Amino acid sequence: MSTQILIDSKLADIAREGLMREHKALPPWLFYDEPGSLLFEQITRLPEYYLTRLERALLTEHAREIVSAAANGSRLRILELGAGSADKTRLLLAAVVAAQQTVSYQPIDVSATALDAARRRLNAELPGVQVNPMLADYTAGWQPAHHTGEERQLLLWLGSSIGNFEPESAQSLLARVRKSMRPGDGLLLGVDLAPRPGGKTREDLVAAYDDAAGVTEAFNKNLLHRLNRELGAEFEPEAFAHCVEWNMERSRIEMHLESRHRQSVWIDALGEQVKLAANERIHTENSYKYTLEAAKNRMEGAGFACVGHWLDAAGWFAVLLGVVGG
Ligand code: AVJ
Repeated sequence: MSTQILIDSKLADIAREGLMREHKALPPWLFYDEPGSLLFEQITRLPEYYLTRLERALLTEHAREIVSAAANGSRLRILELGAGSADKTRLLLAAVVAAQQTVSYQPIDVSATALDAARRRLNAELPGVQVNPMLADYTAGWQPAHHTGEERQLLLWLGSSIGNFEPESAQSLLARVRKSMRPGDGLLLGVDLAPRPGGKTREDLVAAYDDAAGVTEAFNKNLLHRLNRELGAEFEPEAFAHCVEWNMERSRIEMHLESRHRQSVWIDALGEQVKLAANERIHTENSYKYTLEAAKNRMEGAGFACVGHWLDAAGWFAVLLGVVGG
């Protein structure tokens, strides 16, 4: 464990920064260590977590139309932010291969394991796809390399991953990647939509993050297990409640870990205790929900003209296609 502590000084810095202050918070990307990524995969299959299911259905139903709108007569190459297992991406890639026989696909992810799994699976199932994985953190200033080929680039940002970002940061992230794109290149954005009268309710939304089987609770609490494993912390996850709230003013789902009682928790790597009052919270995630208009506005604010969008019948989830103008 001592070696682990040495190489994980970065995690220690994040934990110190997030826990030794008045409003305690940890960044949501800390969820995705190996057990956390497995729990997330389970979340995507929960009955309450409609996001993955609806997005997959939209991509299944409209793949050809999306691909031909993005290609607009040219050949496409595909890039994907936070590709993960690239499970839903296969639907689009299959449609591109059907249209142009081969396609180059660059999944960008911070997880080498996920990239490797995606590459092996695609090689086996879709031989027309040339996979060039890119290990990078797209949130940290990454830009696609300037592409000089004749193909149009289509950048995918699926799964409503945009929800984890403050709307302004999401827009600047998109504006940054757009800088290395050329006129005609596209962006395909998957967005979970906000509740609205006659449609999705706040209860539907809260249930998606507070499922009956307790998988999301385990996902949230894995953060404490992770600090125990990697920083020699002594959190008792049962001493915290999984807490999910719809913040209407900011149009976001919030997840917190709420201390059930007053407690002090030793963190070995920090050489000090975190002190928590009864009911004090550690804010672990924001998941912003957009109206279709708001999502279009962010896209257009980043320099992409929205040329198409696809919704499920109930209007719960949207996939938007933007194109670089000029
Ligand atoms: C991966 C950020 C899209 O916000 O719905 C799922 C993460 N957190 N359940 C989301 C998540 C709790 C997810 N995103």
